[in-house]
Amino acid sequence: MAEINVNKHLDSTVFKAVRAVADQEGVETYVIGGYVRDILLGKPSKDIDIVVRGSGIDMAEKVAAKLGKLKVSVFRNFGTAMFKFRDEEVEFVGARKESYQRNSRKPIVEDGTIEDDQNRRDFTINALAISLNKNTFGQLVDPFNGEEDLDNGVIRTPLDPDITFSDDPLRMMRAIRFATRFNFRIEDQTLEGIKNNKERIGIVSGERIVDELNKMMMAERPSVGFKLLEITGLLNIIMPELQQLKGVEEKGGRKHKDNFYHTLAVLDRIVPNTDDVWLRWAAIFHDIAKPATKRYDEKLGWTFHGHNHLGQKMIPRIFKRMKFPLNEKMKFVQKMVYLHMRPIVLSEDIVTDSAVRRLLFDAGDDIDSLMTLCEADITSKNEDKVKRFMKNFKIVRRKLKEIEEKDRVRNFQPPVSGEDIMEAFGIGPCREIGDIKTAIKDAILDGDIENEREQAYGLMLKLGKEKGLVLK
Ligand code: CTP
Repeated sequence: MAEINVNKHLDSTVFKAVRAVADQEGVETYVIGGYVRDILLGKPSKDIDIVVRGSGIDMAEKVAAKLGKLKVSVFRNFGTAMFKFRDEEVEFVGARKESYQRNSRKPIVEDGTIEDDQNRRDFTINALAISLNKNTFGQLVDPFNGEEDLDNGVIRTPLDPDITFSDDPLRMMRAIRFATRFNFRIEDQTLEGIKNNKERIGIVSGERIVDELNKMMMAERPSVGFKLLEITGLLNIIMPELQQLKGVEEKGGRKHKDNFYHTLAVLDRIVPNTDDVWLRWAAIFHDIAKPATKRYDEKLGWTFHGHNHLGQKMIPRIFKRMKFPLNEKMKFVQKMVYLHMRPIVLSEDIVTDSAVRRLLFDAGDDIDSLMTLCEADITSKNEDKVKRFMKNFKIVRRKLKEIEEKDRVRNFQPPVSGEDIMEAFGIGPCREIGDIKTAIKDAILDGDIENEREQAYGLMLKLGKEKGLVLK
């Protein structure tokens, strides 16, 4: 047991109440797990886990009573209880010993000592406990040298990694998430343990996996996590489509780029420019259909024609299988994948007003996200090329602003409706109405008429006449 600086975190109202009850009842009490890890990392969290040698539920109720009339949520099946105090969530559990069966993440639980409780935890850095009892207050209980691992930036299981990961395979995802978030190294045997147990990920629900991936996605360099998923073989199980991006083929002396590493470079490049996890996912998926659309042409070399279109179509299947939400977030990712080349193509050419108007029309309110994705997609090592693209993107962004102010096509509402057309020519629903509406929209987007009712109405009359319709 080593003495650590008992800092201000253990002196808060909640901890004072826990300490008072612990002493009054004479119960061994510790704060444990992520909270201790985060104090030592200098970034305290709001989730406090308390372990007692006895009943966690009893302790929770006594502490809650001391703090006022707090509502305690009790989970008798798990022997846990929790309450919220201000912005902190405090969970209590009796120290336990756990044993697992092969086909389930749910352990068989018995009462145990603090050591038993630490043994059952995932990583040495998450197994640290600090005593809250009077005589030992502030002492760190660190049977697996977790403090040293924290100092050295190492993720290591307290027991044989095969036991820890096989007991609860979600921990393989957690290892990779912590390594990514803290920029830590996964110790060799622990990494081997993940490789050996990768198939066990099959018993973990898709939702839990997505939860871990989303946390990993919010790290400063999420590529670290995807590389670890790849190295360990987990990627091929949970996201084979991404695995298939890996590799380089050569024909006629020509190679294409490795789309896996390109994708990860795009992901890391987008991170400083957006906190939107779905835009980050769009970066991961933007080239997902490249393997399926890859062709070699003697003249053109490697092509991936239509990969944006096929990519957009692949997304719902991937989202469904992985238990991502099948809602407007998915539609947003699809839209980004579908449109991801448009600003690049645009910036390679002379940027015409009409092309910008069409882009605004298609991207709508997501235009800024699309531009952010496109800028991240320029991963060339040729600095001049990157500079040229960035300069052109600036022009595209400026034009987008000018044209939106002038033409307002971002959320296009047709200035002449189907009802207007039916009313003017005294006709019921028919194909001509759709044709006229499309022609008016195209005329606005091409800049032939302005986005306003009078000009659109004039065009409608002209088009109706050409189609042999007569005014009412
Ligand atoms: N734990 C574990 N195995 C798991 C999940 C959790 O051993 N699959 C243990 C770890 O000791 C962990 C503690 O339970 O520190 C609390 O878990 P949780 O609140 O999920 O995660 P934290 O480690 O606190 O980290 P974060 O809040 O960043 O998710």
